[in-house]
Parts: sequence; C-alpha cells; structure tokens
Amino acid sequence: MCTFCEFLKIRVSTRREVSHSIPLTHLDTWDEPQTHHTPSGILNMSPTLLFYLSLQLLLALGVACVVCVCVWCKHWLGGFAWDGSSHQFNWHPVLMVTGLVVLYGIGAVLYRVPLTWGQNKLPWKILHATLMLLALILSIVGLCAVFDFHNHNSIPNLYSLHSWIGIIAVALFATQWVVGAASFLLPFSPPSLRSRIKPIHVWMGGSIFTLSIAACISGINEKLFFNGDYSKLPAQAQMANSLGVLIVAFGLMVFVILWNHQWQRPEVRPEGPTYTPVFQEENE
Ligand code: HEM
Repeated sequence: MCTFCEFLKIRVSTRREVSHSIPLTHLDTWDEPQTHHTPSGILNMSPTLLFYLSLQLLLALGVACVVCVCVWCKHWLGGFAWDGSSHQFNWHPVLMVTGLVVLYGIGAVLYRVPLTWGQNKLPWKILHATLMLLALILSIVGLCAVFDFHNHNSIPNLYSLHSWIGIIAVALFATQWVVGAASFLLPFSPPSLRSRIKPIHVWMGGSIFTLSIAACISGINEKLFFNGDYSKLPAQAQMANSLGVLIVAFGLMVFVILWNHQWQRPEVRPEGPTYTPVFQEENE
C-alpha cells in the first residue's frame, strides 16, 4: 500500500475512534483536532451553530424557489386552471419545484438536525418517509398536469431530453420510496438487509436529487425557448433565470449539508431512562 493510502487509512480510523468516544452532549463543542490556529471567523464557529445557519439559508432558498416559480407561473404564464389549457401546464413547474426539489431536499437533510440525534430514531424515520411521500405525490400530480395538457392539445409525449431525465427521476424516486419504506420501516425487515441497503439508499437519494435539479433547469430553459424572445432577456426570462440559479443554489446547499461529516447523525444508541427502542437496529 502506498504511503498516501496508509496516511488516509490512519486518518479515517483515528477519526472513527474519536467520534465514537464522544458523548452526544459534547458534540457541539467538538471539532477536528486543530493543528493550525485560524483567526476568528467561520472556521472557528461551533459545528452546531454553523449547521443551523446553513439550515436557515437552505430554508430561505427553498421558500425563494417556491415563491419565484409561483410568481413566474401566475404573473407571466397566466395563472392556474385544470382544463387542459396552458394554465393547466402551469401546475407542472410549481408542483415539480415544490415537490421534487424543495420538499425532497428538506426531507434529505432531516437526519442531520442535531436536535434529532439524542432521541429514538423511529419518529424521524416516519417524518422523513412522510415528507418524501408528500414530495412524490406532488411530483406525480405535476406530471399528470403536463401529460393531460399534452394529450388535450395533441402534443407528443416524452420527446424531449427534459422529459426523459424527468421521467427517470420520478420513476427512480417512486422505486426508492417503496424499497426504503419496506426496508427501514417494516418491523420484520432483517437488520442485515437494512445495513446492506442503506449505502445504496443514500447514493440513490443523491442521484435522484441531482436528476431532478437537471430536469428543472432543462425544463425552465425549454419553456423560455418556447416563448420566443429569450435572447432579448425580457423581465420574464430574468425571473425564470433567477429561479434556475436559486434551484441550483438550493441543490448545492443540500449537498454541502449532506457531505459534511461533522453533521452526520452519530450511529450510537442514546442512553437514559427515556429511551425506548421500538425496533431492533433502530439506528440503521
Ligand atoms: C423535477 C422536475 C421536473 C420533472 C421530473 C419534469 C418532467 C417532465 C416530463 C416527464 C415531461 C413530459 C410530459 C409529456 O411528455 O407529456 C415534462 C414536460 C415539460 N416540462 Fe417538465 N419536469 C420538471 C420540471 C419542470 C420545470 C421546473 C419546468 C419549467 C417550466 C418544466 C417544463 C416543462 C415543459 C415546457 C414541458 C413540455 C415539453 C416537453 O415535453 O419537454 N418542467 N416535464
């Protein structure tokens, strides 16, 4: 094994030993062992404080995405209806952005909230599954809106790159939800199955989210090209471009939160009289 691999191995194992020996109550004062003294600033902030600031930024970006897509569809695209007209199409961007981006992103970072760590994981699992189910329902209704609009107006279905990426994202999401609920929520699913499925579930979750961001960006672009005068950058295009930038910023923020090791839920059982495990392997 090369020196660099050996160095990495030692660092990873040291990191694991340290993190397992930390009581939950001390997590917000813990940080990587410091070899350099950085001047005051963001690097010296406690991980918990930094997490909550990032979460606030994430929620603000999420609200901005929903407001922006609603204003675009209401003000520039003519508002909402369910009658096969272009007003029915307008439900599509609103429901896809709200479901498959904002709700999905919030559901994905739920386990990173330190408030949830010292407690029984089951209620948080149920909340995670519920948020994801809501996201799935909104995105399915969003797809019905656009398929129905196409069928009413004799527009071919599934011809664009946007629609291919989008339909793959929703199909994978539906599969992921069913497999996830069966593996992690059913009491009789074996712990060995859960621990084997967990890394796949995490990887699939990130991939589906990436696909849905790609679908949104391509969908916004397609709609703007349909409108004709995109190259003149009218107010509508400025609004929709800003929506795209906000969606990308929201997506990046979700990944910043998911990839930060300090914000991962410690896989240890909390101690104390109030803790009552319901299922075996509750932390899986
Ligand atoms: C994750 C989000 C999204 C997914 C999964 C998705 C998926 C789809 C699918 C499957 C279709 C094809 C419907 C058919 O063939 O009848 C479609 C159409 C369309 N979508 Fe989206 N969409 C998403 C977000 C958006 C957004 C944000 C916009 C912005 C306006 C948009 C604009 C369009 C347009 C203009 C069409 C009609 C043209 C076409 O079929 O490509 N989509 N979308």
